[in-house]
Amino acid sequence: MLPIFVLIYLCSELSEGISTNPIIYDLTWTFGNDTIYWPGWKKFEFTKQIHIENNGLYSANEFCAAEHGGTHFDAPYHFYQKGWKVAEVPVTRLFAKGLSNEAAQWIVDANKFVGVGLDTPSIDPGNTTDYFVHKIFAENSLYNLENVKLLDNLPERGFNVVVAPMKIEGGSGAPVRVFATVEEL
Ligand SMILES: *[C@@H]1O[C@H](CO)[C@@H](O)[C@H](O)[C@H]1NC(C)=O
Ligand SMILES: *[C@@H]1O[C@H](CO)[C@@H](O)[C@H](O)[C@H]1NC(C)=O
Repeated sequence: MLPIFVLIYLCSELSEGISTNPIIYDLTWTFGNDTIYWPGWKKFEFTKQIHIENNGLYSANEFCAAEHGGTHFDAPYHFYQKGWKVAEVPVTRLFAKGLSNEAAQWIVDANKFVGVGLDTPSIDPGNTTDYFVHKIFAENSLYNLENVKLLDNLPERGFNVVVAPMKIEGGSGAPVRVFATVEEL
């Protein structure tokens, strides 16, 4: 399994358009009772559920959850005062190209990536005390995707990624839907 991928800005491909027939992979875990959250933060919860069957169905729910749980987006503001909040991240940065594993400082120095995704709950090691990776990425306007559902059959490189966080005003993070598209050979 790929533990991590980095997202590179896709300006040239954007202007050339997207292939009409890509294979599409969903890299998102479903939100529900089993979604993982940090201890002490609000778990995903249906706070109100209406289900009325009366000449057809009416169904509607309310949900409530912490920003940073399940497959989610870390805005640079999560760890950097001057960083973009979720709704401020330019939409042109949410369509990106995935590459394979490289180290944090190298990613920043390369100066061509928009974000980093990985399949664990945090981009820093679990025992971190200084949150080095969160901070250095945030200060360089990179976002993180955490708990991404990375699939075995996703190629190591050469796929495009669509990142669609819920556009929460003032948000430091948000639930996110992530898709990868691979050109059919
Ligand atoms: C999720 O948990 C709530 C509260 O325990 C429960 O009422 C509900 O049935 C669960 N939902 C599913 C889909 O299991
Ligand atoms: C975290 O754990 C790793 C692996 O056990 C260790 O190498 C590292 O020094 C630890 N870091 C901290 C800050 O404790």
